[in-house]
Amino acid sequence: MKNTIVVIGSSNVDMIMKMERLPRKGETITDANFVQTFGGKGANTAVGAARAGGRVAFVNAVGEDAYTPMMVENFIKDGIDCRYIFHEKGIASGHALVMIGGEGDNYLSVAPGANYRLDQKKIDQCIELLKNASYVLLQNEIPNDTNSYIIELAHSLQIPILWNFAPAKKRDLQSLEKVELLIVNETEAEFLAEKNFNKNCGYEDIAKCILKKGPKNVIITLGKSGVFVWHETCKGHIPAFAVEAIDSTAAGDIFCGCIAVQLTEGKDIADAIRFASAASALSVTRLGAQPSAPLRKEIDDFLSANTFR
Ligand code: RIB
Repeated sequence: MKNTIVVIGSSNVDMIMKMERLPRKGETITDANFVQTFGGKGANTAVGAARAGGRVAFVNAVGEDAYTPMMVENFIKDGIDCRYIFHEKGIASGHALVMIGGEGDNYLSVAPGANYRLDQKKIDQCIELLKNASYVLLQNEIPNDTNSYIIELAHSLQIPILWNFAPAKKRDLQSLEKVELLIVNETEAEFLAEKNFNKNCGYEDIAKCILKKGPKNVIITLGKSGVFVWHETCKGHIPAFAVEAIDSTAAGDIFCGCIAVQLTEGKDIADAIRFASAASALSVTRLGAQPSAPLRKEIDDFLSANTFR
């Protein structure tokens, strides 16, 4: 049985400043707290899925800097197959500057570094891995051409593709036709639909606009308002769990990883969303990207103790 979740994407060294509120343009905020953690949308997804009980392989390119050995060591500790992490010379790994305000809202700026060295030749080396994938998970922090190439390849191998279209990026959207499940937040949904949410254009309208572009199914994540899903087997709004959020960084990445874990285990999309929403809810109560990803037992305990708001 194909049961390996293959995440192909970025890893970053995250430099985090947590402050009472986010600065306005040109403003300096003093008295922030600094924390260095590991992130990157691909890596967060892989760690989220592995801690939630998935069998995970991570395909990524890292560079040469003081943080990288520790970053890769952490993936190994989480039980992630790191055979296809490519070590590049003469370049740093990806780095992200993350500013977090009082309510867990954030600003992010990313320097891709070695992530942009993940090219088609490297993907060709992963074909055997791809053949055993239950799902291939993608985001938008590696070159567009590489993502398009992976989508063609995975589709030809009949491996379902889950694409977290984050961050929203101008690109050729033809590949969307080969995507089994597209996951977007509100900003990314508006970008793809080429329409804004307003009183005459609700979640269903936006979801239908996105589906016209080709993906089979779509989930729009809405933060503390839950998710809106338009799937062959489940349609509508699903609420979130009520928690005290301190940092929303990586909540979406962890959500995607957990959806893949549940679908690989044969759960239906409604159960997968409930499980992934619990994992995201736990993650926003903790600071940092990868440090916030919960373990399977924590998710199961949370689900037994909580109901949707
Ligand atoms: O989604 C959160 C992630 O986005 C951070 O960990 C940061 O590295 C950026 O890639």
